[in-house]
Amino acid sequence: MKRLGIFGTSGMAREAGDIAYEMGYSPIYIARDQIELNALHLNAEAILEANVLRYRDIPFIIGIGENLIRHRLAQCYEGKINFFNLIHPSATFGREQRSEIEGRQGVIVCAGVRFTNNIKVGNFCIFNQNVTIAHDVIVDDFVHIAPGSIISGNVHIGLRSWIGAGAVINQGENNRKLHIGTDTIIGSGAVVVKPCEANAVYAGVPAKRIK
Ligand SMILES: CC(C)(COP(=O)(O)OP(=O)(O)OC[C@H]1O[C@@H](n2cnc3c(N)ncnc32)[C@H](O)[C@@H]1OP(=O)(O)O)[C@@H](O)C(=O)NCCC(=O)NCCS
Repeated sequence: MKRLGIFGTSGMAREAGDIAYEMGYSPIYIARDQIELNALHLNAEAILEANVLRYRDIPFIIGIGENLIRHRLAQCYEGKINFFNLIHPSATFGREQRSEIEGRQGVIVCAGVRFTNNIKVGNFCIFNQNVTIAHDVIVDDFVHIAPGSIISGNVHIGLRSWIGAGAVINQGENNRKLHIGTDTIIGSGAVVVKPCEANAVYAGVPAKRIK
């Protein structure tokens, strides 16, 4: 079986490992240190991050849900190893959307995700289980969209933003997308009806800034 390196050992990493198996790859989990390595009780290969470059011939993915950590790791290993896109076979894609994602690096698309039409996706994004992304959406780098969220048409999700589980982002307009600012967090179950500022936390129905 082909091998794939997965940074992380937590739940997100193991979920990424499950997708890897579905795609015919055997995961090698990468622990930050010996304590993390010792805590990992999986019937799978695992190595220390210090040894990653010995494996530079295999593809890698960052299975860490925290956007800032994913960003730092991607910067640290840029040009040293090859990042791969993990796409669960049950994800569905509108016209040319699969090739849009295959042209990126480090993207994780979990089971049941649906991409419709004319969506632009950044690098190292995570589309968690059963997320729906509608037409004309732009998703910047290092965004994480948690399970069950619905992103309506003409939305722009800024760099490193995090959309909580089951959130709904209402649609923007053709020439004025509904914008979620950089590094913003949308709480679980929120319904976003207006643009959201950068570096903020929004929650509730309709979503209001809480931090
Ligand atoms: C919104 C969120 C980020 C806030 O977390 P936080 O900054 O630690 O905030 P707190 O837990 O201190 O809550 C602050 C207030 O917001 C309320 N609140 C928290 N989450 C909320 C939510 N999802 N919807 C509505 N209100 C929420 C709290 O009740 C609290 O209200 P209070 O001040 O009246 O007591 C977090 O609660 C959340 O929803 N995270 C998403 C979880 C998720 O989707 N996980 C999926 C993992 S894949």
